[in-house]
Amino acid sequence: MELWKGRFAKELSPITNNFNQSIGIDKRMYKVDIEGSIAHTKMLEKQKIITKEDQKQIEKGLKEILKEIEEGKTVINSNSEDIHTFIEETLTNKIGDAGKKMHTARSRNDQVALDIRMYLKEETQDLILDLKKLIKSLIDKAKNNLYTIMPGYTHMQRAQPITFAHYLMAYVEMFLRDITRLENTYQEINVMPLGSCALAGTTYDLDREYVKEELGFDDITYNSLDGVSDRDFVIDLESNLSIVMMHLSRFSEEMVLWCSWEFKFIELDDSYSTGSSIMPQKKNPDITELIRGKTGRVYGNLIQGLTMMKSLPLAYNKDMQEDKKAIFDSIDTVKACIITLIPMIDTMTILKDNMELAAKKGFINATDCADYLSKKGMPFRDAYKLTGEIVKYAIDNDKVLDTISIEKYKEFSKLFEDDLYDEISLKTCIEKRNVIGGPAPEAVKKEIDIALKKI
Ligand code: ARG
Repeated sequence: MELWKGRFAKELSPITNNFNQSIGIDKRMYKVDIEGSIAHTKMLEKQKIITKEDQKQIEKGLKEILKEIEEGKTVINSNSEDIHTFIEETLTNKIGDAGKKMHTARSRNDQVALDIRMYLKEETQDLILDLKKLIKSLIDKAKNNLYTIMPGYTHMQRAQPITFAHYLMAYVEMFLRDITRLENTYQEINVMPLGSCALAGTTYDLDREYVKEELGFDDITYNSLDGVSDRDFVIDLESNLSIVMMHLSRFSEEMVLWCSWEFKFIELDDSYSTGSSIMPQKKNPDITELIRGKTGRVYGNLIQGLTMMKSLPLAYNKDMQEDKKAIFDSIDTVKACIITLIPMIDTMTILKDNMELAAKKGFINATDCADYLSKKGMPFRDAYKLTGEIVKYAIDNDKVLDTISIEKYKEFSKLFEDDLYDEISLKTCIEKRNVIGGPAPEAVKKEIDIALKKI
């Protein structure tokens, strides 16, 4: 049944009713809708707008409905337009006339704005916790791989030596920034809009601060037009989640590469990989590919939010009902990706020998050779050029820098001495990169301590 019955001679056509309703999507906000209504009616009673008796009945009825929904005794059906309508109708059926007073000095416009904010506050906190778990799992792996040498890449070409711990901690930094962004967005969400009513506030003497305190918000909105039509915080969250997915997708891409026979740096546990229906040898990293693929949908949801809002005149417009499908999908997707990824990381095997072999082959100590010469007095640009010539000699003669004889080195420059070999050994290359933020085990341990303090 429509709430606006009096003004209309006819019922909404079934097709239009179906098209107009949002209950299939917004039913998940039942709990916050009920909590919001309880706070609202407590305030109405405090301000002597409804009687104590009515308030008691409303609160009792709403609490019963909440319990019944959670126990599965009340099913949120699709006869109502949206969750707000459903709860109000169910309440009125239950307690009679008092239920009809609940919506005094309120509109679904400020009600839905309140509900989304309450719902997203909880979800944002959950997302932060999930990211912390992911960070924890990356740090645990990093702790066990402080000395696992691997090549670091630029342009996907072997560049300089790093460790697997240093690599993993790069992702920890990204997810820590994601948490900061979510914390900032939480502050944006944490503002109470109820009292804006349909668009122009109300003639009733409301105590908005009371509702704010009752529902645990930090602040209230200060313009009723904006209060009902602001969805910046939804877009903010979609933007944050897009960045989270971008990070997850970059990590996933590398997992896909590193599982391949071309790299074989890691092996996924059987329970987190899939096979092929035709090729018996296959073990596919489907999870990470799906994460990469789902990134597109989360970006799409951000574009949906921005586009939906871009030409909307003030104040509420029904277009805005489309906000929830998108943001709920982004939240569900990010959560699913994180909880699937964590056990995959926890159980994967690091093939340290393969990583080290790749590190030994790529001339990734060439910079260290040039640094050796420049520390002995040769200008760096000359040292760089000379090392390039040595690398060329090594490639032509099927050698690496560590297997060229000292006699040969001395032909290139008199500055070379026996200590060279130690200087360009991968172990030294790693240990000496002890600058803050570098791959040396000591530096990474410090990074881990800082990250652990942050979470
Ligand atoms: N289901 C609506 C939404 O999600 C609730 C607000 C409806 N308000 C209105 N004036 N039709 O946006």
